[in-house]
Parts: sequence; C-alpha cells; structure tokens
Amino acid sequence: MSLTSNQLPSEEEILKQRAALDKAKQLVAEKKAKLGRDLTCCVTTFGCQMNSRDSEKLLGILKEAGYRIIDSEDADLVVYNTCTVRDNANQRVYGRLGHLHSMKKKNPQKQIALCGCMMQEPSVIEIIRQKYSFVDLVFGTHNIYKFAELLCHLLTPHKGMLIDLWDETTQIVEELPVERKYSFKSGVNIMFGCNNFCSYCIVPYVRGRERSRSSEEILDEIKALVADGVVEVMLLGQNVNSYGKNLKEDITFARLLQKIEAIEGLKRIRFMTSHPKDLSDELIEVMKNSSKICRHLHLPVQSGSTRILEKMNRRYTRESYLELVKRLKNSIPDLSLTTDIIVGFPGETYEDVQDTINMVREVGYDNAFTFIYSKRTGTPAATMENQVSEEDVKKHFDMVLQVVQETARKQVSKFTGQVAEVLVEDVNEHDPALVSGRMSNNLLVHFPGDKALIGQLVNVKLVENKGFYYIGEQV
Ligand code: 5AD
Ligand code: SF4
Repeated sequence: MSLTSNQLPSEEEILKQRAALDKAKQLVAEKKAKLGRDLTCCVTTFGCQMNSRDSEKLLGILKEAGYRIIDSEDADLVVYNTCTVRDNANQRVYGRLGHLHSMKKKNPQKQIALCGCMMQEPSVIEIIRQKYSFVDLVFGTHNIYKFAELLCHLLTPHKGMLIDLWDETTQIVEELPVERKYSFKSGVNIMFGCNNFCSYCIVPYVRGRERSRSSEEILDEIKALVADGVVEVMLLGQNVNSYGKNLKEDITFARLLQKIEAIEGLKRIRFMTSHPKDLSDELIEVMKNSSKICRHLHLPVQSGSTRILEKMNRRYTRESYLELVKRLKNSIPDLSLTTDIIVGFPGETYEDVQDTINMVREVGYDNAFTFIYSKRTGTPAATMENQVSEEDVKKHFDMVLQVVQETARKQVSKFTGQVAEVLVEDVNEHDPALVSGRMSNNLLVHFPGDKALIGQLVNVKLVENKGFYYIGEQV
C-alpha cells in the first residue's frame, strides 16, 4: 500500500506535519500508558553527511513525539537510514536486517522502518517485499519530511508493510524539529540532488535533480543555529559549486558564502562536496579573503587518467584539474586538499592506475578516500565492456592506497611544532584524559583537557605527529 504523494506548498506542508506530530505525541503517550513503560527508538545511519543530517531530523521528530532515544537496536522502533553509493552498503543493510528480525520475534512491540537512498531503487524494494516482509515501513529520500505522518501510521493498528516512495519532488521542507548530534556544530543543507550523471554514480537516480534552497532560508537556519550555540556549519550538497543555478534569485555559491560569513557569532564554515568542473575563480577569491571558511577543500578527482575521466563523464581532464589545484594553492597556500578516488572503473589499465598514483603525488593530497569501483545497476558504467578482474582491482587498489598513505603522512608531518586553532569536539574515545578536535584544515588533534572544553576554539601546539593525527598541548 502507498499513501498519496500529493504535494502542498511548503508552508502548508509544515502545518500538516506539525499537526501529524501532535497526533503522534498523543498516540505515543497512549501507548506508553498502556505498556506502563517508555517507548524507545534508535536511528542507524549508513553513508554520507547528508544522511547524518537527515537522521538528525528523524530523531528530532521521534524525540518530540515522546520516544526515548537510545543507542541500541534493542529499541521498540529501529530506523535504518540507508546508503546505496556502493553495493557493500546495501549488503550490510540486508545482513543486519536478519538480526533485527530475530529481535522482533522477542519483542512484539518492535517496529522496523527503512529509508534513504537504497529505498529509491525498485530492485531493492522487490527484495524487501519478498525476503524481509517483517519490515513495517519503507520510505524514500523525497518524502522524509513526511516522517511525522508516517509515524502516526506506525502508531495506529495496521496490517502489513507500508511502502511510501516518490520518484521525485520539487518540495524542500525544512523547519521541523531536529535533534543535533553536536551542540556546537551542524550540517546545513543548501541543495539537494545532482545533475551531473557521472557514469558510475547512482546518486542522480536516487536523489533526483538539483534543487537549491533560497539564501534567505539558509541564512535564517544558520542564524537560529548560532543563537543555539553552533559555531561551525558544514554546508551540504552533492555539488555545492552549482548552488543557485535553478533559483529565481541571482546568487552563486561564492556569494552565499559571503552572506554566511557576515553572520555574527559564527566562527567556522565548511562545505562539501565540490565538483572540480564547477569551481569558480570567484569562489577561490572569496575563500582567500575569508577568515571563517576553513582551509580545507574536498575535491574528488576519481581518476588521474583523462581517458578514464572522459568515460566517467567527469567533464574535466587531468591537466585542467592540475591547473585548478595550482590556482587554488597559489591563492591559498595553506589550503589542505582531500579527494575521492575510484579504482577499477571499467577499462582501467595498469597505465591509468599509474596516472592516478602520479596525480596523488603531484597534488600532494592531505588525505584521500579510495574506493573499489562498484557496479550500480541502471548506471551507464554498469554495462560498459572490459570490467576489470577482481584480482587486478585488488592489486591496483593496494598500490594506490600505499601512495595515498605515504603522501598523507608527508603532508601531516609538516605541521610539527606549529600552533593551531582547534575546535574541541569530544572526549577522546580511548583515553578520557584527552580531548579531540579539528584544525581549520580538518586535521585531527588530541590533547590533555576535559569535557568543559567541548565546543570551544583553543590554541594547541602540535607536539607529536602520529602519522594521520597529532598529539598536542594547549597553549
Ligand atoms: N563505485 C565506487 N565508488 C563510488 N563512488 C560513487 N559511486 C561509486 C561507485 N559506483 C564514490 C565516488 C564519490 C564518493 C562519494 O563515492 O568517489 O566521490
Ligand atoms: Fe555522483 Fe558525480 Fe553527482 Fe558526485 S557529482 S553525486 S559522483 S553523479
């Protein structure tokens, strides 16, 4: 069964969802009274920062409805917010669903909801219908803002699984409750979807076409966050450099950044992800002159071979990417660059891999995420000839990884002895005498301190280089 997907203008939709949330509150209270105990919930996030932000929205609604949030999947309601960029993310979800099923047999109250990118794939829905019929609710990326309404459905007697999936939406509905993981930093969506259709990537199919939020809405959200104690924002979008292209207002990503920079009380601005083909000189200039935009740019290269880049439909060449890096480094010498690399794209030869390795050395990335190519059904690359053998991919992957690690170590070692401003994020997981935080360039630093420092910007001397992070001391 599927609920209708009629879309109201966003103010009306917000009112409708608020009303649904009030109803959910009442239903949770009734259920708690009947059971004589709390109702618990747990949201497990797979995938990227966009998904993490979506999970904060789900948790905001669950908390307001009256659920108690716990970390354990023993909870009465478990939500999996899934990712489908690579097949191993899908396989992990299937594996864990089996485990949830055995827990559900022991707790008759237990309910399971699935959402996120993986649910936008018709082949996945078929598998869930057939093999995982114990799931209570499935919804997608386009209608996540309807969660309050879907929750009401879960809380009223019903039979079978509710599947509510939309192919697309023109709606952007924010401004519903959010339960932030960190009090002092937050992700902020500035746009949704992607129009690039890189030939390996499933994102445009599951997240839909590019839609930007108006600058006014974004600024209002950030001002409210700052008033609530946030000092660092991460602007989120699949391709932030094309921000504004579909808006009526005349705005670019660079100009949006300038407006955000002017918000008093905000200390740091980060953003991801940047597509190299759309990174403008205007943006470089704004970054150079900014005191708030962090000295870090994630600039996915995917491959160092122009031949492969063309097949990937990336719309830049090895040379134009290197030229862009030169312009960036000339303007902002202390900029840290990180990247994504795919190894094993169809037709990739040993020589292409050598091009990628040389690229890593030449750019001198501070870090790189290296992925094995994963065939995604429905993308152009899935049906390309010359899929690379598993054996060669493994060999090439290890070669790339070794150079990535060597380069990153060399980059990181440059900072020994310097003093850097660090935003303290947490007490260290392994040693409670230490706190952990990040420098403007995103490098991780651990130093003696206590939890009172969390959320503060402090100056730290980088004493000991540990390869990919530093041990420091506050100065
Ligand atoms: N196989 C492997 N890696 C992929 N990515 C996207 N699609 C695939 C795929 N089919 C990687 C890209 C992207 C990152 C988010 O995930 O490197 O930048
Ligand atoms: Fe995928 Fe390319 Fe869009 Fe990134 S830019 S989400 S890799 S299609």
